[in-house]
Amino acid sequence: MLLKGKTVKNTDIAASYDKVSKNYERYYLDTMHRHNDRVLNLLINKIREKQDKQSILDLACGTGYNTKYLLSRGIEADYTLVDLSKGMLEVAGERGMDSSVSLVNKDMLSFLKECPGEYFDIVICMWAIKYQPPQKVILECERVLKKNGLMAVIVNTCDTLPQMRRLYPKLVVYNRRSIKKVMFDLPNPKNKKEFAGWFTKAGFCIDELDDGRQIFCFKNAKRLVEFLNSTGALAGYDTMLDLRADTIQRQMVSYFKKNNILIAEHRFVFGVFEKGKSREATCNAVKNDRQQRYTL
Ligand SMILES: C[S@@+](CC[C@H](N)C(=O)[O-])C[C@H]1O[C@@H](n2cnc3c(N)ncnc32)[C@H](O)[C@@H]1O
Repeated sequence: MLLKGKTVKNTDIAASYDKVSKNYERYYLDTMHRHNDRVLNLLINKIREKQDKQSILDLACGTGYNTKYLLSRGIEADYTLVDLSKGMLEVAGERGMDSSVSLVNKDMLSFLKECPGEYFDIVICMWAIKYQPPQKVILECERVLKKNGLMAVIVNTCDTLPQMRRLYPKLVVYNRRSIKKVMFDLPNPKNKKEFAGWFTKAGFCIDELDDGRQIFCFKNAKRLVEFLNSTGALAGYDTMLDLRADTIQRQMVSYFKKNNILIAEHRFVFGVFEKGKSREATCNAVKNDRQQRYTL
């Protein structure tokens, strides 16, 4: 399949998000928004220090939650929201955002590459940087950001959803004849250190850096499977194997039942990074982070 180019592409991932777009906020953001809010609040403090009207790029914006949150906190700016999923953008459009918001249906890396240099003051990328090679995205962001521009990112680590990570290879083996395309594992960072390294290598300094976990508990295995299939967390993996097919859903339910698993755990890292500040500032942020470490 690899040799024939039968691999899961960006457009397949966007199609997976189209499927969950109507319920994404109910299943995912209803709980996870608190982590978006935390990163956005860190950013808001820094935006308030700036005098001029900011131009903000919400990369892989999804249903527009982050922009809506910033607007609700009085951050008046020119907002550009980019997402490859038409379904997610449609939901964002239905939120009645004002005229300072423009929606763009495009792949994030293609959008960045076509963007002039030093154009935005701020780039936000929440739960999505892994859908393109992160270092390429970060290098492009560094180029399109103005001097002292900020980048705020939250992303799952590679050990996220450990319960599903153990099950997926078994599903691949049981259902190998139904596989139509191969999915490469997403390039989620191992930990804060690797995550921060992506940014410092691209010329950013670290303003804020931390990690966190969020556990979801379910009444029964069926609800857990419904959750996993409704948040977008398995986008792309559900193209390699149709995880919504009855037989596969039954296999998932029976595995979770047999192993007494009734939780799903999201693990993640986040940070705010500044273009072109001194190395000393980065060292101070890392030192502060070590002193004030906490887990969500
Ligand atoms: C988990 S959602 C996050 C949405 C939003 N940032 C949030 O915080 O709720 C991931 C988003 O990334 C989008 N996405 C995936 N691959 C993309 C790509 N290559 N270019 C642009 N958007 C992409 C998906 O369509 C989806 O809306």
